[in-house]
Parts: sequence; C-alpha cells; structure tokens
Amino acid sequence: MHLVIFSGSVFGTADEVADVAAERCRAAGLQVTYLKPASVDALLEANADALLACCSTTGMGELPANVQDFFYELESRFPLLTDKPFGVIALGDAGYGDTFCQGGEQLRELLLELQGRELVPMLRLDAAETVTPEQDAEPWIDDFIARLKSL
Ligand SMILES: Cc1cc2nc3c(=O)[nH]c(=O)nc-3n(C[C@H](O)[C@H](O)[C@H](O)COP(=O)(O)O)c2cc1C
Repeated sequence: MHLVIFSGSVFGTADEVADVAAERCRAAGLQVTYLKPASVDALLEANADALLACCSTTGMGELPANVQDFFYELESRFPLLTDKPFGVIALGDAGYGDTFCQGGEQLRELLLELQGRELVPMLRLDAAETVTPEQDAEPWIDDFIARLKSL
C-alpha cells in the first residue's frame, strides 16, 4: 500500500501534522511518499494507492500559497482518481466562522470531484481549541491507517 501525503501550510503547523502522519503510517508498515512541495506531476508519477492531504486555511477561507499552484493545476488537468481512497486533515480556527477549515474543504471537494473516495470524514483541527494538533490528529490517523489496511 503506497500512500502519498501532501500539505499546504502558512506557518508550518499543517506540515508538522503531515510529518507525524507520515511517521505513523510508515511505522504501521505503509510505504509513504510525502510530496513537499506538492506537485501534480509527482503525484501522478507516484501512482499512489491512497492520498492524505493536510492543509490549513488562510486569508478569508483561502488555501495557503504553497499549495495553490498544485490545487489549480490539479483542477485544470483533472486527472480522475476513480475510487482512490483519500483523507483530509484540515487546520483552521473556528473564530473565523464560516470560513473555518475552508482550505481543507476546498481540497476535499476537489478530490471528490476527481472521484476519489473519502475513507474517513475530514478531521477539523481548531487552533482556538488546541495547541497540540499533531497529538490531536493521532486517533484520526490511526483510524485512517486501519481503514486503509482493511481494504
Ligand atoms: C491571517 C490568517 C488568516 C486565517 N484565516 C483563517 C480562515 O479563514 N479560516 C480558518 O479556519 N482559519 C484561519 N486561520 C487560522 C489558521 O488556519 C490556523 O491557525 C492553522 O492552524 C495554521 O496552520 P499553518 O501553520 O499550517 O498555516 C487564519 C490564520 C491567519 C494567521
């Protein structure tokens, strides 16, 4: 099982969560490629069995700058990911109201449009509630791993 991870981050928190996820998935025996920075060519070349996105939100519900080119290229090239299992860990701050975790939500919606299959409902990590998002993500990551292994 080859898992490709990519992340979008302004201050590095989502990258740290992605690092923890990569470590945990490797420890569970998955083959993991963390694409840093995210690249559509590298994603397609990897021909992954599953995808994991970790993404924060900036501005008024926008994607971090370091994942925007990837997002728009993926949207325009539109490579179908038919039935490809994926998960999204979204980081945000509920204080932003309606735009809470919109960066992760945009990625999630695109992966669904590409016909990927969301394996575990998107995790929303609220910076207003926690200062340990990497630890808080662990149960979700373990659930994601268990579901991947049961495929
Ligand atoms: C300028 C700015 C704008 C933000 N806008 C949003 C937003 O619209 N929605 C949201 O859920 N979180 C928003 N956040 C909160 C970040 O997404 C959150 O702090 C996240 O943990 C940062 O992760 P990062 O270090 O990976 O960028 C914003 C933070 C900053 C500093």
